[in-house]
Amino acid sequence: MKKIGILFGKERSFPEAFVQRVNSKNIEGIMAEPVRIDKALQGQPSGYSVIIDRISQDVPFYRTWLKNAALTGTAVINNPFWWSADDKYFNNCLMTQIGVPVPKTAIIPSNEHPDDTSDSSFSNLAYPLDWEAIFNEVGFPAYMKPFAGGGWKHVYRLNDKEEFFEKHRETGQLVMLLQEEIVFEEYYRCYCIGGKYVRIMPYEPRNPHHLRYVADFSPTPEKLQEMTEIVLKINSYLGYDFNTVELALRNGVPYAIDFCNPAPDADIKSVGAENFEWVVETAANYAIEKAQANQPGTDNLTWGRYVKESAGRLI
Ligand SMILES: Nc1ncnc2c1ncn2[C@@H]1O[C@H](COP(=O)(O)OP(=O)(O)O)[C@@H](O)[C@H]1O
Ligand SMILES: [Mg+2]
Repeated sequence: MKKIGILFGKERSFPEAFVQRVNSKNIEGIMAEPVRIDKALQGQPSGYSVIIDRISQDVPFYRTWLKNAALTGTAVINNPFWWSADDKYFNNCLMTQIGVPVPKTAIIPSNEHPDDTSDSSFSNLAYPLDWEAIFNEVGFPAYMKPFAGGGWKHVYRLNDKEEFFEKHRETGQLVMLLQEEIVFEEYYRCYCIGGKYVRIMPYEPRNPHHLRYVADFSPTPEKLQEMTEIVLKINSYLGYDFNTVELALRNGVPYAIDFCNPAPDADIKSVGAENFEWVVETAANYAIEKAQANQPGTDNLTWGRYVKESAGRLI
C-alpha cells in the first residue's frame, strides 16, 4: 500500500476534501490520510510515499522532519530543501535572468540589527545607503514587503521617501523589498500543480477579501496562453509542485508580483467553490501520480531547473 499524507495547520476545508477525494477514487494500492507523527528518529522512513506540506513554513520542526522524510524516499510536495533556500528577492533576481517581467526591486537591510549583532557587525554596508539611486530605480508610489513570507502581512504602499523612512522604522528586524508599483488593468492568481496543471483565476486585490475572486476579467485565448507559459516557466525554474503565481497586467504585459506561495490559500471560502473543486481534484490526481511513480529509498523530490542546471555543471 502506498500512503499519501497531508501535513497541515489550522486550515480545514482543503486537507479534509483532499483526503476524501484521493480515497473516493478507490485506486488499488493507494490511500490518503492526515500525516501522523508520534516520534521522529533520524534516518527512519516516514511511511508515506507522498506528503503534501501545507504548514512547514510556520513549524520548523515539520520542515526538518520533512527533509528526513524526503531523504528516505517520500515525495514531499513542495521540496523542503528548495523552500528552505529561496526567498522572494532571489526569485525576483532569477526572473531577471530568464526573461520573466518583474517589477523593479531593491532589497533593504533591516531597520533594526538582527539579534546578537551591533553597529560593528556592519562594516561592509555603506551608511547611508545610496538612497537616491534606489528611489530613482524603483520610483514612487512603491510597495514595501518582506523578502520572505506571505499572507499579505507587512505589505505597505508608499507615496514618497518620507513615508518610506517612516514605515521602514516600523519593520524591526524584517528584511524588506522595495518594489516598483505595477499599476495594472487586470490581475490574476494562477494555480500551478505538478509543474503542468495551470488554473488562471481572475483576482481583484482591491476588493474586500471575500470578493477578490469574483473579478470579471476575461482574457483572450492568446493572453491566457501567454500567462500559462509564464506560470509554467516560473515553476519549472523554481521546482515547486504546488504554488500560485500572481500576475499583474500593465499595458497588457504580465508582471510576476508574487510567485513564491508554496502553501497557497486553498480555502473554499476564499477561492470559491469552482476553484476549490479544481484544486482538490488536481492535487488528488497529482498526488496519486507521484505515489504511483515513487521509487522507495530514492530521491522522489521535484527539483527546479535552476538547481538542476547548477548541479549539472559540477558533474
Ligand atoms: N509591485 C506591486 N505592484 C502593485 N501591487 C502590488 C505590488 N506588490 C504587491 N502588490 C499588492 O499587494 C498584495 C500583497 O503583496 P504580495 O506580494 O502578494 O505579498 P504576499 O506574499 O503577502 O501575498 C498583492 O496581491 C498586490 O495586490
Ligand atoms: Mg500575494
